Amino acid sequence: MSAPIQIGTDQSDRPVIIDVEELLATRLLVQGNSGSGKSHLLRRILEESAGIVQQVVIDP
Ligand SMILES: Nc1ncnc2c1ncn2[C@@H]1O[C@H](COP(=O)(O)OP(=O)(O)O)[C@@H](O)[C@H]1O
Ligand SMILES: [Mg+2]
Repeated sequence: MSAPIQIGTDQSDRPVIIDVEELLATRLLVQGNSGSGKSHLLRRILEESAGIVQQVVIDP
């Protein structure tokens, strides 16, 4: 089973899709300079996957 979510669009306005099922089976590292969009990306993933998987956010 796959669970695709759209996290945004690329430079050509094509949808950027990630598979939540695949993500849950592996790990994700989001790395970048300050202001590069890490928090924005995580928010998109949380918003789009909210109906698919239970979420717990820990932000110390
Ligand atoms: N894909 C995106 N499209 C539009 N604006 C974005 C995108 N990613 C980040 N931004 C904007 O860029 C700024 C910095 O992003 P942010 O996620 O706070 O960066 P970081 O957490 O890496 O420091 C914010 O104002 C955010 O809204
Ligand atoms: Mg941030």
